[in-house]
Amino acid sequence: MANSLNFSPVIAGSMKWGKWGAHFNTTDYQRMIENCIEAGATTFDHADIYGNYSTEAEFGLAIKENPAIRNQVQLITKCGICMVAPNRPGHQIKHYNTSKEHIIESAERSLKNLHTDFIDLLLIHRPDALMDPGDIAEAFSQLKNSGKVLHFGVSNFNTSQTALLQSCFAVEVNQVEISILHTDPIYNGVLDQCIKEKIQPQSWSPLGGGILNGIADDERSRRIIAVAEILGEKYAAGFDQILLAWLMKHPAGITPVLGTTKAERIKAAILARSIDLSREEWYMLLRAATGHEVP
Ligand SMILES: NC(=O)c1ccc[n+]([C@@H]2O[C@H](COP(=O)([O-])OP(=O)(O)OC[C@H]3O[C@@H](n4cnc5c(N)ncnc54)[C@H](OP(=O)(O)O)[C@@H]3O)[C@@H](O)[C@H]2O)c1
Repeated sequence: MANSLNFSPVIAGSMKWGKWGAHFNTTDYQRMIENCIEAGATTFDHADIYGNYSTEAEFGLAIKENPAIRNQVQLITKCGICMVAPNRPGHQIKHYNTSKEHIIESAERSLKNLHTDFIDLLLIHRPDALMDPGDIAEAFSQLKNSGKVLHFGVSNFNTSQTALLQSCFAVEVNQVEISILHTDPIYNGVLDQCIKEKIQPQSWSPLGGGILNGIADDERSRRIIAVAEILGEKYAAGFDQILLAWLMKHPAGITPVLGTTKAERIKAAILARSIDLSREEWYMLLRAATGHEVP
């Protein structure tokens, strides 16, 4: 979609790079970041909470040790979820906080953790039942005017929640779960709204969080993988690349946020952009997912 974001066509998601997954050390982070950049994935997705509030700082150490990296990458992070964690002793229960004070404090902390002067994109991680769009707009405008955050968006927002915030400021991204296993945004208006309002849709768990990796033993996943493998032979591609090509064919311009800890999978995802499935092939995959033809 035409908007002013200059992000790579595949975004590298860091959620499983640290304590919530691979337990990368600083060298691992540096190698992964460099390999992603080399593959063409220059945009990295974070959230304050990843690794129980530790992954941003671990990634930031890699930037601190090689500051030249910063000019080659774009950094996304999120705020608004308050988890119960040892390093957040003030949190008694998991809750959301989209107050002006919390947004600004969280962004300041992310800047420090990531060893950067600016964040390319800040997202409200989840819709907060108590959110006041005017309050969020004030926080965003303060962060923008100080040059600390360049762009703003939301994550996991439905159409009316996005429209509510759009009435106060420009929502540039909605990061939601979209995959062949989770097609709701195609039908619930979220992608329609993205096209209409020029909001970039980013898909988290674009490969179903890895459950399509041959591990899943359910009928539906088997059907999807079988069709994707047949198409993979035609396009000389892996079934994972076919499933990403399926996502990227949507006219809303979905940018996958890939959660892999392996740079070669990022490279394969970038190459999947060149696979142009026919409409019939796209619908064959949809049929495999739903179990029936369209009406
Ligand atoms: N906004 C939100 O609320 C939200 C929620 C969840 C996630 N996210 C973001 O989205 C990113 C992706 O989420 P996810 O990890 O659930 O998504 P995913 O990319 O669908 O799944 C990644 C998992 O699948 C495995 N996998 C197996 N085959 C793969 C292949 N060919 N290519 C890529 N991965 C493969 C990976 O293992 P290997 O490491 O072994 O490759 C990894 O465990 C996260 O890192 C985070 O940045 C955002």
